[in-house]
Amino acid sequence: MNPFTYKDGVLHAEGVSLQAIAAEVGTPFYCYSTAALVANYRAYAGAFAGQDAGVCYALKANSNLAVVRTLAQQGAGADVVSEGEMRRALAAGVSADRIVFSGVGKTREEMRAALEAGIYQLNVESVPELEALSEVASSLGVEAPIAIRVNPDVDAKTHAKIATGKKENKFGIDWDHAREVYARAAALPGIKPLGIAVHIGSQLTDLAPFRAAFERVVELLHALRADGIDIQRLDLGGGIGIRYRDETPPDLNEYAGMVRSITGNLGCHVTLEPGRALVGNAGILVSKVVYLKHGLARRFLIVDAAMNDLIRPSLYDAYHAIKPVAEPAPDVEPVTVDVVGPVCESGDTFALQRPLPPLAADDLVAFCSAGAYGAVMASTYNTRPLAPEVLVNGDAFAVIRPRPTIEDLLGMDRVPEWLGK
Ligand code: LLP
Repeated sequence: MNPFTYKDGVLHAEGVSLQAIAAEVGTPFYCYSTAALVANYRAYAGAFAGQDAGVCYALKANSNLAVVRTLAQQGAGADVVSEGEMRRALAAGVSADRIVFSGVGKTREEMRAALEAGIYQLNVESVPELEALSEVASSLGVEAPIAIRVNPDVDAKTHAKIATGKKENKFGIDWDHAREVYARAAALPGIKPLGIAVHIGSQLTDLAPFRAAFERVVELLHALRADGIDIQRLDLGGGIGIRYRDETPPDLNEYAGMVRSITGNLGCHVTLEPGRALVGNAGILVSKVVYLKHGLARRFLIVDAAMNDLIRPSLYDAYHAIKPVAEPAPDVEPVTVDVVGPVCESGDTFALQRPLPPLAADDLVAFCSAGAYGAVMASTYNTRPLAPEVLVNGDAFAVIRPRPTIEDLLGMDRVPEWLGK
């Protein structure tokens, strides 16, 4: 569903005018739709209804407590990659037995926190990590329920920076070593190998790489069972890609059907860890035009959001559709502009040579599909306060993270005594 539509000539989030939110909270700001979060979760979980499967929302995509709580209330578990994310999931109401802890560099402190909380599973990615976990679990007198993340050496056909399933990537245990690592895990005190985990990348728009990876996982499952290791769980990693521009992401039901056909008769509980698919199109970033500048070669639309607020275009050359908040007349001639932020880097560019309706200073624009990997990847580069986050629910909206003040930012620093006052 698209909750961001024009009503009476103004872009709304559900029933709330984005102009009204801008007037109250200022720009730039992130805005999320409850209806879209709920619809996305229900579609995902619904596609797997009837399978022994659970959706553990990947908090890394958007970890605002209100967003996580919205999803948790619909029944979502959580996939976390740090103690911080684990604490967010717990604080948002996700029960510990619905939390999976992934990540290539968990520290002993994080392992201890996860075991003390009693989470569902830790996904282990290396032998040294396995040994550390064995020590931590033994010292606590518990057994750590684990899956081992394997690297299936499958090309996910996505942007290189978000592909994780090739043997050159830092993730998982090499395919060829998997059986011996499971044998090692089974022999270690404090370790209970229960599952196999795999994640080959993000923003996948083709089912074939998923299928290839899952089939390899099943091959391994049979080999491990033959070795006497009782695999009861499969964690199939992140979700399907979304449409930013003209991508044709796989149909959810087709994806779920493929999962069922590959894993349905194995007697395993399946965990899915979608992030982007649940929140990506449920959020936008609203910004204001500061200046329109006519350069020799280009026209620049300079907006008050920047790469520190939404880094995806700079980091991954990602495309985000840009919509004026005031609905343009249907017959208006587009103007080709470069949409840029105020940060002192040429990389601070949201869009190159983008045809947009004519815009002027103080006009509002929305960067679409910014609900995933937007606010969570923001920084205060150039001492720019983090953009606030707003959650809409029908005709109501609430600020779910206020904009810090510049004093707040300065107040985080400490000047040593020897520098004087
Ligand atoms: N599970 C694991 C182990 C992951 O590493 C990830 C994403 C997910 C689940 C969730 O994947 P999703 O359903 O969102 O595709 N910042 C990048 C994306 C990084 C994804 C990292 N891992 C971006 O803005 O495109």
